[in-house]
Amino acid sequence: MATSLIRRAMNMASRVSSPTVAPASRMVVVRPYASETEAQKVEPKAAASPNMKTFQIYRWNPDNPTKPQLQDYRIDLKECGPMVLDALIKIKNEIDPSLTFRRSCREGICGSCAMNINGCNGLACLTKIESGSSETTITPLPHTFVIKDLVVDMTNFYNQYKSIEPWLKRKNPPPTAGKEIPQSKKDRAKLDGMYECILCACCSTSCPSYWWNPESYLGPAALLHANRWISDSRDEYTKERLEAINDEFKLYRCHTILNCARACPKGLNPGKQIAHIKHLELTA
Ligand code: SF4
Ligand code: SF4
Ligand code: FES
Repeated sequence: MATSLIRRAMNMASRVSSPTVAPASRMVVVRPYASETEAQKVEPKAAASPNMKTFQIYRWNPDNPTKPQLQDYRIDLKECGPMVLDALIKIKNEIDPSLTFRRSCREGICGSCAMNINGCNGLACLTKIESGSSETTITPLPHTFVIKDLVVDMTNFYNQYKSIEPWLKRKNPPPTAGKEIPQSKKDRAKLDGMYECILCACCSTSCPSYWWNPESYLGPAALLHANRWISDSRDEYTKERLEAINDEFKLYRCHTILNCARACPKGLNPGKQIAHIKHLELTA
């Protein structure tokens, strides 16, 4: 086995270096510069014209609890990736290691880098740094309790999510014991626009109703998930789920202003899902 692998590798290598291979099919090595001399000409020029940008970032430290403040950091965008998260990481790595923010996946999957960027909620890893010389202001998600700098307390948000019991609930065993519960393509499609939610809280923290009643109104994210389970053909607690949220505050604080849809970095529309729940409540 090992011998045949080695022989195959040697054959491939000899084919690549064979002079019988047509010149057009040989690999062309592309160098960034035509010659060493040209490279020397280009590099100092690029370094001589930095593209400086100022980031104003909200700072608050619980160990030294003075008034929160916006702190300016200037970085060269030519030495930084294109996204706001790249700028934050550069500032933390090279200028101020005390700057605190959450991040994990850096590709819009984990939802942990949600923050307010130039007045709009969004994910730092999916938000491009605005070109031009104007400052970029970064603050924590609005109307939340700040733990440190851009890190906010998500306890209330997660408790509300937990309260809608976001898991499949059954009264009967699966049709075939030990097997998954089948679902038609049509029923599966009913979950589109909801299952994609990454629980970043951009929607809930942009909702005026949630700002005023964060304890009692469930908010767009939790209600979107409530509708996700209400709409699931495999779930057998639809009636109970509807009853549990049929409440003046939990559900009916939504006034269909749709700030939530504008804020969602995944392009979801929680307001539409809430309207669907209200419709079901009327017809149940
Ligand atoms: S539509 Fe409802 S949930 Fe969305 S921002 Fe408006 S009040 Fe909030
Ligand atoms: S609906 Fe959108 S904005 Fe709201 S938590 Fe889910 S992914 Fe984030
Ligand atoms: S780092 Fe995961 S969503 Fe931005």
